[in-house]
Amino acid sequence: SVKSAVARSSSAHVARRGYSSESVPERKVAVLGAAGGIGQPLALLMKLNPLVSRLSLYDIAGTPGVAADVSHINTRSEVAGYMGDDQLGKALEGSDVVIIPAGVPRKPGMTRDDLFNINAGIVKSLCAAIAKYCPNAIVNMISNPVNSTVPIAAEVFKKAGIYDEKRLFGVTTLDVVRAKTFYAGKANLNVAEVNVPVVGGHAGITILPLFSQATPKANFSDEDIKALTKRTQEGGTEVVEAKAGKGSATLSMAYAGAIFADACLKGLNGVPDVVECSYVQSSVTDLPFFASKVRLGKNGVEEILGLGPLSDFEKESLETLKPELLSSIEKGIKFANQS
Ligand code: NAD
Ligand code: LMR
Repeated sequence: SVKSAVARSSSAHVARRGYSSESVPERKVAVLGAAGGIGQPLALLMKLNPLVSRLSLYDIAGTPGVAADVSHINTRSEVAGYMGDDQLGKALEGSDVVIIPAGVPRKPGMTRDDLFNINAGIVKSLCAAIAKYCPNAIVNMISNPVNSTVPIAAEVFKKAGIYDEKRLFGVTTLDVVRAKTFYAGKANLNVAEVNVPVVGGHAGITILPLFSQATPKANFSDEDIKALTKRTQEGGTEVVEAKAGKGSATLSMAYAGAIFADACLKGLNGVPDVVECSYVQSSVTDLPFFASKVRLGKNGVEEILGLGPLSDFEKESLETLKPELLSSIEKGIKFANQS
């Protein structure tokens, strides 16, 4: 029949691209800021992800080259590049997941909050476009300061009448990636087997790794735990200083962003028990947004997991971080509601 001929030819088409599966759904992923330091390696990693069928690369400049380059890789997804405001709608239309690494990175001596003045406006306008062109998409916010850009996104979506708190995520995966690496290194464990939840936010002391819940268990002194905590909190600054003015983490961030987007896609596809830490609207603490373990599902957040038992040091650190995190949240909300 015509139908099966079509099915055969389309599966041959898929097979030619090095990927063959009848049951993997079509998924469009858009990367906003795709020509940047994070955007380019993230585009590469998303091109390697067999769960992606369409990869949309958007930036204000440089995307045709990145898209042409990545599109030659013989994996499943069709790649398209979009450049400039008038192509943003096309870039977003039909997206299941939108990843946002658009905006300026830190230089030595800056805090993430120092990026607010430039990045808040970028995030606000990109989120207004998401509300218009793909209101049901899952949003992975990478742009800093994440503690404020996620609340900005929420306010923009509320104003547009499309806010669904289950679909908005601040990407804190890099903190988990770092905590795992530093913990495994210090304990001489196989890093592939290590798990460390990281809660709170994504800046300095608001990043709270829960080493008391790390697995496998290691016998660390209080001093060791304090040092590991500080290194995790200062991981971004370590990279900013090493790059000496040439930006912040891009390669490790692209890896972390790809892990988190993959988890979102798995959740959308109905894979059970997909759990990652993420900064989301939350009632785990008295703060309106908070990072903790989240179970991902067909609608985004399936369940926000509690903090679990904390050590005295973690309890104290949690109380210390709250005022700073709250003020970053309020700053974002205020910004989104002015003008
Ligand atoms: P970069 O300057 O190399 O790239 C940013 C890209 O964004 C550029 O290509 C730029 O053209 C683009 N851009 C600017 N305005 C845009 C707009 N309106 N629409 C679309 N694209 C736009 O910076 P980078 O190193 O890739 O970092 C990007 C952001 O990610 C920074 O804010 C940085 O602080 C943040 N970051 C977050 C984490 C995290 O863990 N969440 C980790 C690392 C970096
Ligand atoms: C990171 O943690 O590496 C990012 O938030 C970038 C930065 O400014 O540190």
